Amino acid sequence: MTKNSYISGVGSYLPDRVVTNAQLSKTVDTSDEWIRARTGIAQRHIAAEGQHTSDLGYRAALDALKNADMSAQDIDLIIVATSTPDLTFPSTATMIQELLGIHQGAAFDIQAVCSGFIYALSVADAMIKSGQGTNVLVIGAETFSRILDWNDRTTCVLFGDGAGAVVLSANKPDVKDAGAGILNTFIRSDGRYRDLLYVDGGPSSTQTVGKLRMAGNQVFRRAVKELSSSMVQCAGEMDVKIADINWFVPHQANQRILEAVAKKLDLRRSQVISTVAYHANTSAASIPLALDVAIKDGRIKRGHQIMLEAFGGGFTWGATLLVY
Ligand code: ACO
Repeated sequence: MTKNSYISGVGSYLPDRVVTNAQLSKTVDTSDEWIRARTGIAQRHIAAEGQHTSDLGYRAALDALKNADMSAQDIDLIIVATSTPDLTFPSTATMIQELLGIHQGAAFDIQAVCSGFIYALSVADAMIKSGQGTNVLVIGAETFSRILDWNDRTTCVLFGDGAGAVVLSANKPDVKDAGAGILNTFIRSDGRYRDLLYVDGGPSSTQTVGKLRMAGNQVFRRAVKELSSSMVQCAGEMDVKIADINWFVPHQANQRILEAVAKKLDLRRSQVISTVAYHANTSAASIPLALDVAIKDGRIKRGHQIMLEAFGGGFTWGATLLVY
């Protein structure tokens, strides 16, 4: 039987501390009005001192396992998408593996910035289809607050911390309501644009962690173009019409990007899951966080067709078409 992969559970975790735009405007030269109008962001969660990316990812993983009705011992592969690992090495994935008490299988990180979750899902799907995984934890976890320049108002207001996770499982004939699972994945990158969105430090270049730098305007324009075309291509390869897809779960960078893409593809606003107001941009964590919100509040149901899409530093971008 040909193996397929489907989402058997979804979970998320947000740090307790919430920082509103008004609170931020006390230390940064900005205003609630500017941030809301330009980005749709109202607040962000910020990890506590000593709370690391692996801690956030671990809690999201526990929630996803509970939702999948599985124990950690059912997991044979962990893939973590992050650009803010606890340490340069070992991987955050092996740290989460240890926190979960898993001593079997494999664990590794993927780095594709805000597209990381789409990349990780694509790899997990391919590994399940080739028989190299049965129940795979795919986690997006970030502490972007640690790589922000809090004196740069053009970037520090945009990001937040958090984690989301899915358990991606090999389809079994006896699983009811499993849907068709992942139908298609599409990933792309183009390194010519590295200077438009990057972190100005790293072990091999500066021996420091560095801070996020971005030419927001240029990122915006490219994101709208590539997000739209990757969704059209991802759906088109499966002969699925964009108009027939129930839900769109985009990377949550900016409400204006979400709306520009929706306008380009003629999507209804109500079909596009948006959590950017509450979470801000949590990079690789933003898609599973938004997915979890929409599943838990009952909008996304088993059998619905969903498009996930992301764009990030690199540039990297991509989309995933699936039946939940
Ligand atoms: N508060 C108040 N004023 C501000 C702020 C702020 N936080 N930030 C910038 N401004 C000012 C600027 O200084 C500028 O003032 P000036 O006209 O006097 O020079 C003015 O606001 C307009 O600045 P722009 O940069 O032109 O504003 P823009 O409308 O482009 O919005 C934004 C900026 C929100 C960053 C937008 O470009 C954007 O969202 N881009 C996409 C960014 C993104 O999504 N990045 C994530 C990609 S994913 C990843 O991999 C991380």
